[in-house]
Amino acid sequence: MFRDNQMGVYIHWPFCAAKCPYCDFNSHVRGAFDQKEWAEAYVKSLEYYAELLPNKQVVSIFFGGGTPSLMSPETVQVMIDAVQRLWPAVNDVEITLEANPTSVEIGKFKAFKGAGITRISLGVQALNNKDLAFLGREHSVDEAFKAIDIAGECFERYSFDLIYGRPEQSLQDWEAELTRGLSYARGHMSLYQLTIERNTPFYMQYNRGEFSIPDDVKGAEFYHLTQDIMEGAGMPAYEVSNHAQEGQECRHNLVYWHMADYIGVGAGAHGRFMNGSAKFASRDHSAPEIWLKRVQEKGYGAHELETLSADDRFVECLMMGLRLRDGVSIKRCEALSGLAFDRVVDSDKLQTICDEGWAHVAGDQVQLTREGLLRLNALIPFILQ
Ligand SMILES: C[S@@+](CC[C@H](N)C(=O)[O-])C[C@H]1O[C@@H](n2cnc3c(N)ncnc32)[C@H](O)[C@@H]1O
Ligand code: SF4
Repeated sequence: MFRDNQMGVYIHWPFCAAKCPYCDFNSHVRGAFDQKEWAEAYVKSLEYYAELLPNKQVVSIFFGGGTPSLMSPETVQVMIDAVQRLWPAVNDVEITLEANPTSVEIGKFKAFKGAGITRISLGVQALNNKDLAFLGREHSVDEAFKAIDIAGECFERYSFDLIYGRPEQSLQDWEAELTRGLSYARGHMSLYQLTIERNTPFYMQYNRGEFSIPDDVKGAEFYHLTQDIMEGAGMPAYEVSNHAQEGQECRHNLVYWHMADYIGVGAGAHGRFMNGSAKFASRDHSAPEIWLKRVQEKGYGAHELETLSADDRFVECLMMGLRLRDGVSIKRCEALSGLAFDRVVDSDKLQTICDEGWAHVAGDQVQLTREGLLRLNALIPFILQ
Protein backbone atom coordinates (compact mmCIF):
# COMPACT_ATOMS: atom_id res chain seq x y z
CA MET A 1 0.00 0.00 0.00
CA PHE A 2 2.80 2.45 0.89
CA ARG A 3 6.39 2.23 -0.26
CA ASP A 4 9.21 2.04 2.30
CA ASN A 5 10.42 5.59 1.58
CA GLN A 6 6.95 7.12 1.94
CA MET A 7 5.71 8.82 5.07
CA GLY A 8 2.89 10.84 6.60
CA VAL A 9 3.43 14.08 8.50
CA TYR A 10 1.33 14.67 11.64
CA ILE A 11 1.20 18.23 12.96
CA HIS A 12 -0.38 18.64 16.40
CA TRP A 13 -1.89 22.01 17.35
CA PRO A 14 -2.43 21.67 21.10
CA PHE A 15 -4.87 24.53 21.68
CA CYS A 16 -8.65 24.70 21.98
CA ALA A 17 -11.11 27.54 22.61
CA ALA A 18 -12.57 25.51 25.51
CA LYS A 19 -11.89 22.08 26.95
CA CYS A 20 -14.62 19.49 26.32
CA PRO A 21 -15.34 17.48 29.50
CA TYR A 22 -14.92 14.06 27.82
CA CYS A 23 -11.64 14.76 26.04
CA ASP A 24 -8.20 13.58 27.15
CA PHE A 25 -6.31 14.67 24.05
CA ASN A 26 -3.29 16.89 24.63
CA SER A 27 -5.17 20.16 24.29
CA HIS A 28 -4.96 23.36 26.31
CA VAL A 29 -6.85 26.63 26.56
CA ARG A 30 -4.70 29.75 26.25
CA GLY A 31 -5.26 33.48 25.77
CA ALA A 32 -4.03 35.28 22.66
CA PHE A 33 -0.45 34.59 21.57
CA ASP A 34 1.83 35.20 18.64
CA GLN A 35 1.20 32.38 16.13
CA LYS A 36 4.24 33.47 14.12
CA GLU A 37 6.58 32.38 16.90
CA TRP A 38 4.89 28.97 16.99
CA ALA A 39 4.89 28.59 13.20
CA GLU A 40 8.65 29.19 13.22
CA ALA A 41 9.10 26.45 15.83
CA TYR A 42 7.08 23.97 13.74
CA VAL A 43 9.21 24.77 10.70
CA LYS A 44 12.37 24.29 12.76
CA SER A 45 11.16 20.87 13.95
CA LEU A 46 10.29 19.87 10.41
CA GLU A 47 13.79 20.89 9.33
CA TYR A 48 15.23 18.67 12.06
CA TYR A 49 13.34 15.69 10.61
CA ALA A 50 14.35 16.58 7.05
CA GLU A 51 17.98 16.31 8.11
CA LEU A 52 17.33 13.02 9.87
CA LEU A 53 15.14 11.54 7.10
CA PRO A 54 16.15 13.25 3.86
CA ASN A 55 15.04 10.55 1.42
CA LYS A 56 11.35 10.33 2.21
CA GLN A 57 8.37 11.13 0.06
CA VAL A 58 5.29 12.65 1.71
CA VAL A 59 1.91 10.97 1.09
CA SER A 60 -0.20 12.90 3.61
CA ILE A 61 -0.13 15.78 6.06
CA PHE A 62 -2.61 15.77 8.94
CA PHE A 63 -3.27 18.80 11.15
CA GLY A 64 -4.77 17.35 14.34
CA GLY A 65 -5.36 18.64 17.80
CA GLY A 66 -6.48 20.28 19.82
CA THR A 67 -8.20 22.49 17.36
CA PRO A 68 -6.02 23.23 14.34
CA SER A 69 -8.81 25.31 12.77
CA LEU A 70 -7.87 27.93 15.39
CA MET A 71 -4.66 28.44 13.43
CA SER A 72 -4.61 31.33 11.03
CA PRO A 73 -4.53 30.27 7.38
CA GLU A 74 -1.10 31.94 7.18
CA THR A 75 0.22 29.62 9.92
CA VAL A 76 -1.15 26.59 8.05
CA GLN A 77 0.38 27.86 4.82
CA VAL A 78 3.83 28.30 6.42
CA MET A 79 3.77 24.70 7.66
CA ILE A 80 2.54 23.20 4.37
CA ASP A 81 5.12 25.20 2.42
CA ALA A 82 7.85 23.95 4.77
CA VAL A 83 6.88 20.29 4.29
CA GLN A 84 6.77 20.75 0.52
CA ARG A 85 10.13 22.52 0.49
CA LEU A 86 11.78 19.82 2.62
CA TRP A 87 10.52 16.63 0.93
CA PRO A 88 9.04 15.65 -2.42
CA ALA A 89 5.35 14.76 -2.18
CA VAL A 90 3.12 12.46 -4.24
CA ASN A 91 0.99 14.36 -6.80
CA ASP A 92 -2.28 13.76 -4.99
CA VAL A 93 -0.93 14.43 -1.48
CA GLU A 94 -3.78 14.42 1.07
CA ILE A 95 -3.70 17.40 3.47
CA THR A 96 -6.36 17.15 6.19
CA LEU A 97 -7.25 19.70 8.85
CA GLU A 98 -9.45 18.97 11.87
CA ALA A 99 -11.95 21.75 12.43
CA ASN A 100 -14.57 22.66 14.97
CA PRO A 101 -17.82 23.85 13.44
CA THR A 102 -18.13 27.31 15.01
CA SER A 103 -18.78 30.40 12.93
CA VAL A 104 -15.26 31.77 13.37
CA GLU A 105 -13.71 28.66 11.89
CA ILE A 106 -16.25 28.26 9.07
CA GLY A 107 -15.23 31.72 7.85
CA LYS A 108 -11.66 30.48 7.35
CA PHE A 109 -12.39 27.39 5.20
CA LYS A 110 -11.80 29.13 1.89
CA ALA A 111 -8.49 30.53 3.08
CA PHE A 112 -7.48 27.08 4.39
CA LYS A 113 -8.10 25.71 0.92
CA GLY A 114 -5.95 28.52 -0.49
CA ALA A 115 -3.20 27.48 1.95
CA GLY A 116 -3.23 23.95 0.52
CA ILE A 117 -5.69 21.98 2.68
CA THR A 118 -7.46 19.32 0.58
CA ARG A 119 -9.70 17.67 3.18
CA ILE A 120 -11.55 18.79 6.32
CA SER A 121 -12.53 16.65 9.29
CA LEU A 122 -15.26 18.31 11.36
CA GLY A 123 -15.95 17.56 15.03
CA VAL A 124 -19.75 17.60 14.92
CA GLN A 125 -20.20 15.06 17.78
CA ALA A 126 -24.01 15.25 18.17
CA LEU A 127 -27.02 16.38 16.18
CA ASN A 128 -29.17 17.70 18.99
CA ASN A 129 -28.50 20.85 20.97
CA LYS A 130 -29.10 19.30 24.39
CA ASP A 131 -26.35 16.72 23.87
CA LEU A 132 -24.02 19.27 22.29
CA ALA A 133 -24.35 21.32 25.49
CA PHE A 134 -23.79 18.20 27.63
CA LEU A 135 -20.62 17.48 25.63
CA GLY A 136 -19.46 21.05 26.29
CA ARG A 137 -19.40 21.92 22.59
CA GLU A 138 -19.39 25.51 21.46
CA HIS A 139 -21.57 25.00 18.37
CA SER A 140 -25.24 24.29 17.67
CA VAL A 141 -26.77 21.76 15.27
CA ASP A 142 -27.51 24.56 12.78
CA GLU A 143 -23.90 25.67 12.90
CA ALA A 144 -22.75 22.08 12.38
CA PHE A 145 -24.87 21.72 9.24
CA LYS A 146 -23.72 25.10 8.00
CA ALA A 147 -20.12 24.04 8.55
CA ILE A 148 -20.71 20.81 6.61
CA ASP A 149 -22.32 22.74 3.74
CA ILE A 150 -19.43 25.17 3.53
CA ALA A 151 -16.88 22.36 3.82
CA GLY A 152 -18.68 20.74 0.87
CA GLU A 153 -18.46 23.94 -1.17
CA CYS A 154 -14.77 24.47 -0.41
CA PHE A 155 -13.39 20.93 -0.44
CA GLU A 156 -13.90 17.87 -2.57
CA ARG A 157 -13.40 15.63 0.46
CA TYR A 158 -14.63 16.08 4.01
CA SER A 159 -15.54 13.92 6.97
CA PHE A 160 -17.27 14.53 10.25
CA ASP A 161 -17.19 12.89 13.68
CA LEU A 162 -20.14 11.84 15.81
CA ILE A 163 -20.08 10.39 19.33
CA TYR A 164 -22.77 7.85 20.24
CA GLY A 165 -23.77 5.89 23.34
CA ARG A 166 -24.44 9.15 25.16
CA PRO A 167 -26.34 9.26 28.47
CA GLU A 168 -30.06 8.76 27.95
CA GLN A 169 -29.61 8.21 24.22
CA SER A 170 -31.86 5.39 23.00
CA LEU A 171 -31.11 3.20 19.99
CA GLN A 172 -34.02 4.88 18.19
CA ASP A 173 -32.56 8.34 18.95
CA TRP A 174 -29.22 7.28 17.53
CA GLU A 175 -30.76 5.69 14.45
CA ALA A 176 -32.63 8.93 13.68
CA GLU A 177 -29.58 11.07 14.33
CA LEU A 178 -27.20 8.94 12.29
CA THR A 179 -29.66 8.73 9.41
CA ARG A 180 -29.94 12.52 9.42
CA GLY A 181 -26.17 12.82 9.60
CA LEU A 182 -25.79 10.45 6.66
CA SER A 183 -27.76 12.79 4.42
CA TYR A 184 -24.94 15.30 4.95
CA ALA A 185 -22.07 12.83 4.45
CA ARG A 186 -19.72 12.71 1.51
CA GLY A 187 -17.85 9.45 1.58
CA HIS A 188 -16.36 9.42 5.10
CA MET A 189 -17.58 9.55 8.71
CA SER A 190 -15.92 8.74 12.04
CA LEU A 191 -18.31 7.33 14.64
CA TYR A 192 -16.98 6.90 18.16
CA GLN A 193 -18.69 5.29 21.12
CA LEU A 194 -18.41 7.65 24.12
CA THR A 195 -15.64 6.50 26.46
CA ILE A 196 -14.99 7.85 29.93
CA GLU A 197 -11.34 8.81 30.12
CA ARG A 198 -9.34 9.29 33.32
CA ASN A 199 -8.38 12.85 34.23
CA THR A 200 -11.42 14.35 32.57
CA PRO A 201 -14.38 16.11 34.24
CA PHE A 202 -16.63 13.32 32.87
CA TYR A 203 -14.59 10.77 34.79
CA MET A 204 -15.36 12.48 38.12
CA GLN A 205 -19.02 13.08 37.25
CA TYR A 206 -19.48 9.50 36.05
CA ASN A 207 -17.88 8.09 39.19
CA ARG A 208 -20.07 10.30 41.37
CA GLY A 209 -23.05 8.70 39.57
CA GLU A 210 -24.16 11.95 37.93
CA PHE A 211 -24.81 10.17 34.65
CA SER A 212 -24.54 6.72 33.17
CA ILE A 213 -23.58 5.39 29.75
CA PRO A 214 -24.64 2.16 28.03
CA ASP A 215 -23.27 -1.01 29.65
CA ASP A 216 -21.35 -3.53 27.50
CA VAL A 217 -24.49 -5.30 26.29
CA LYS A 218 -26.23 -2.06 25.31
CA GLY A 219 -22.94 -0.73 23.92
CA ALA A 220 -22.75 -3.75 21.63
CA GLU A 221 -26.28 -3.05 20.40
CA PHE A 222 -25.27 0.54 19.57
CA TYR A 223 -22.21 -0.76 17.75
CA HIS A 224 -24.14 -3.30 15.65
CA LEU A 225 -26.88 -0.79 14.84
CA THR A 226 -24.16 1.62 13.67
CA GLN A 227 -22.57 -1.05 11.47
CA ASP A 228 -25.95 -2.06 10.00
CA ILE A 229 -26.89 1.51 9.11
CA MET A 230 -23.49 2.37 7.66
CA GLU A 231 -23.21 -0.87 5.66
CA GLY A 232 -26.70 -0.23 4.30
CA ALA A 233 -25.60 3.26 3.26
CA GLY A 234 -22.52 1.95 1.40
CA MET A 235 -20.09 3.33 3.98
CA PRO A 236 -18.90 0.27 5.90
CA ALA A 237 -16.27 0.50 8.63
CA TYR A 238 -12.80 0.20 7.17
CA GLU A 239 -11.49 0.50 10.74
CA VAL A 240 -13.16 0.14 14.15
CA SER A 241 -14.64 3.68 14.16
CA ASN A 242 -13.99 4.93 10.64
CA HIS A 243 -16.44 4.47 7.79
CA ALA A 244 -15.95 5.25 4.12
CA GLN A 245 -17.14 4.59 0.65
CA GLU A 246 -14.51 2.64 -1.24
CA GLY A 247 -11.65 4.95 -2.18
CA GLN A 248 -12.64 7.63 0.34
CA GLU A 249 -10.66 6.24 3.27
CA CYS A 250 -8.47 8.79 5.07
CA ARG A 251 -5.01 8.10 3.69
CA HIS A 252 -3.31 9.47 6.77
CA ASN A 253 -5.22 7.02 8.97
CA LEU A 254 -4.12 4.20 6.66
CA VAL A 255 -0.50 5.27 7.16
CA TYR A 256 -0.89 4.46 10.87
CA TRP A 257 -2.79 1.22 10.44
CA HIS A 258 -0.53 -0.09 7.68
CA MET A 259 2.53 0.71 9.80
CA ALA A 260 4.00 3.09 7.27
CA ASP A 261 6.38 5.77 8.53
CA TYR A 262 5.17 9.06 9.94
CA ILE A 263 6.74 11.93 11.79
CA GLY A 264 4.88 13.84 14.49
CA VAL A 265 5.55 17.49 15.26
CA GLY A 266 3.94 19.62 18.00
CA ALA A 267 3.39 19.22 21.74
CA GLY A 268 2.55 15.60 22.55
CA ALA A 269 2.82 14.39 18.94
CA HIS A 270 4.10 10.87 18.28
CA GLY A 271 6.08 9.56 15.32
CA ARG A 272 7.24 6.16 14.01
CA PHE A 273 9.89 5.85 11.34
CA MET A 274 12.63 3.67 9.97
CA ASN A 275 16.14 5.05 9.83
CA GLY A 276 18.56 2.57 8.34
CA SER A 277 17.44 -0.83 9.57
CA ALA A 278 16.15 0.46 12.94
CA LYS A 279 12.65 1.65 13.72
CA PHE A 280 12.26 4.62 16.05
CA ALA A 281 9.40 6.01 18.11
CA SER A 282 9.35 9.72 18.83
CA ARG A 283 7.26 11.57 21.43
CA ASP A 284 7.26 15.36 21.60
CA HIS A 285 7.13 17.06 24.99
CA SER A 286 3.47 17.44 25.87
CA ALA A 287 3.51 20.85 27.62
CA PRO A 288 3.15 23.41 24.80
CA GLU A 289 5.38 26.12 26.25
CA ILE A 290 8.13 23.66 27.19
CA TRP A 291 7.88 22.19 23.70
CA LEU A 292 8.27 25.66 22.18
CA LYS A 293 11.31 26.49 24.32
CA ARG A 294 12.95 23.15 23.52
CA VAL A 295 12.52 23.65 19.80
CA GLN A 296 13.86 27.17 20.02
CA GLU A 297 16.90 25.98 21.95
CA LYS A 298 17.60 22.54 20.44
CA GLY A 299 15.82 22.54 17.09
CA TYR A 300 13.39 19.73 17.99
CA GLY A 301 10.74 19.08 20.63
CA ALA A 302 11.04 15.31 21.04
CA HIS A 303 12.21 13.35 24.06
CA GLU A 304 15.06 10.96 23.31
CA LEU A 305 14.09 8.66 20.43
CA GLU A 306 13.14 5.15 21.46
CA THR A 307 14.39 2.23 19.38
CA LEU A 308 11.60 -0.29 18.90
CA SER A 309 12.54 -3.91 19.60
CA ALA A 310 11.58 -6.72 17.21
CA ASP A 311 8.74 -7.68 19.58
CA ASP A 312 7.48 -4.08 19.71
CA ARG A 313 7.48 -3.92 15.93
CA PHE A 314 5.59 -7.17 15.56
CA VAL A 315 2.97 -6.36 18.20
CA GLU A 316 2.39 -2.85 16.85
CA CYS A 317 1.92 -4.20 13.36
CA LEU A 318 -0.60 -6.75 14.68
CA MET A 319 -2.45 -4.22 16.84
CA MET A 320 -2.70 -1.63 14.11
CA GLY A 321 -3.57 -4.07 11.33
CA LEU A 322 -6.26 -5.90 13.29
CA ARG A 323 -8.17 -2.61 13.61
CA LEU A 324 -8.77 -2.77 9.86
CA ARG A 325 -11.67 -4.60 8.24
CA ASP A 326 -9.16 -6.13 5.81
CA GLY A 327 -7.03 -7.34 8.71
CA VAL A 328 -3.30 -7.73 8.93
CA SER A 329 -0.81 -9.57 6.76
CA ILE A 330 1.17 -12.24 8.57
CA LYS A 331 4.09 -11.69 6.16
CA ARG A 332 4.07 -7.95 6.89
CA CYS A 333 4.32 -8.52 10.67
CA GLU A 334 7.16 -10.95 10.02
CA ALA A 335 8.99 -8.67 7.58
CA LEU A 336 8.75 -5.63 9.87
CA SER A 337 10.05 -7.49 12.90
CA GLY A 338 12.18 -10.34 11.60
CA LEU A 339 10.19 -12.66 13.91
CA ALA A 340 8.20 -15.74 12.92
CA PHE A 341 4.43 -15.38 13.43
CA ASP A 342 4.27 -18.53 15.60
CA ARG A 343 6.95 -17.17 17.89
CA VAL A 344 4.73 -14.21 18.89
CA VAL A 345 1.16 -15.39 18.36
CA ASP A 346 -0.14 -18.51 20.12
CA SER A 347 -1.70 -20.49 17.27
CA ASP A 348 -3.99 -22.49 19.60
CA LYS A 349 -5.41 -19.28 21.01
CA LEU A 350 -5.80 -17.81 17.54
CA GLN A 351 -7.73 -20.96 16.63
CA THR A 352 -9.89 -20.49 19.75
CA ILE A 353 -10.93 -16.98 18.73
CA CYS A 354 -11.59 -18.21 15.18
CA ASP A 355 -13.82 -20.99 16.62
CA GLU A 356 -15.68 -18.35 18.64
CA GLY A 357 -16.40 -16.48 15.41
CA TRP A 358 -14.26 -13.49 16.38
CA ALA A 359 -11.53 -13.90 13.76
CA HIS A 360 -10.64 -15.76 10.63
CA VAL A 361 -7.46 -16.49 8.78
CA ALA A 362 -7.64 -16.24 4.99
CA GLY A 363 -4.30 -17.09 3.40
CA ASP A 364 -1.85 -14.50 4.65
CA GLN A 365 -4.48 -12.25 6.28
CA VAL A 366 -5.76 -12.44 9.86
CA GLN A 367 -9.04 -10.58 10.14
CA LEU A 368 -11.33 -9.84 13.04
CA THR A 369 -15.05 -10.22 12.42
CA ARG A 370 -17.56 -7.58 13.53
CA GLU A 371 -17.93 -9.44 16.85
CA GLY A 372 -14.16 -9.66 17.12
CA LEU A 373 -13.66 -5.92 16.55
CA LEU A 374 -16.00 -5.30 19.45
CA ARG A 375 -13.55 -7.26 21.65
CA LEU A 376 -10.35 -5.95 20.05
CA ASN A 377 -8.72 -4.76 23.27
CA ALA A 378 -9.18 -8.09 24.99
CA LEU A 379 -8.34 -10.33 22.02
CA ILE A 380 -4.87 -8.99 21.24
CA PRO A 381 -3.33 -9.72 24.66
CA PHE A 382 -5.13 -13.10 24.62
CA ILE A 383 -3.48 -14.36 21.42
CA LEU A 384 0.03 -13.16 22.25
CA GLN A 385 2.51 -15.78 23.52
C1 LIG B 1 -8.86 15.29 18.65
S1 LIG B 1 -10.54 15.14 18.62
C2 LIG B 1 -11.08 16.25 17.36
C3 LIG B 1 -10.57 17.53 17.31
C4 LIG B 1 -11.48 18.70 17.28
N1 LIG B 1 -10.96 19.62 18.23
C5 LIG B 1 -12.90 18.43 17.70
O1 LIG B 1 -13.20 18.41 18.86
O2 LIG B 1 -13.69 18.27 16.79
C6 LIG B 1 -10.88 13.69 17.71
C7 LIG B 1 -12.23 13.06 17.92
O3 LIG B 1 -12.17 12.11 18.95
C8 LIG B 1 -13.47 11.91 19.46
N2 LIG B 1 -13.38 11.79 20.92
C9 LIG B 1 -12.57 12.48 21.75
N3 LIG B 1 -12.74 12.06 23.02
C10 LIG B 1 -13.69 11.09 23.00
C11 LIG B 1 -14.31 10.26 23.99
N4 LIG B 1 -14.00 10.37 25.27
N5 LIG B 1 -15.24 9.36 23.59
C12 LIG B 1 -15.54 9.24 22.28
N6 LIG B 1 -15.00 9.99 21.31
C13 LIG B 1 -14.08 10.90 21.65
C14 LIG B 1 -14.32 13.08 19.02
O4 LIG B 1 -15.29 12.65 18.11
C15 LIG B 1 -13.34 13.99 18.35
O5 LIG B 1 -13.89 14.66 17.25
S1 SF4 C 1 -12.73 17.33 21.71
FE1 SF4 C 1 -11.64 18.72 20.35
S2 SF4 C 1 -12.32 20.80 20.99
FE2 SF4 C 1 -12.85 19.44 22.62
S3 SF4 C 1 -11.10 19.60 24.04
FE3 SF4 C 1 -10.77 17.78 22.71
S4 SF4 C 1 -9.54 18.49 21.08
FE4 SF4 C 1 -10.41 20.33 22.06
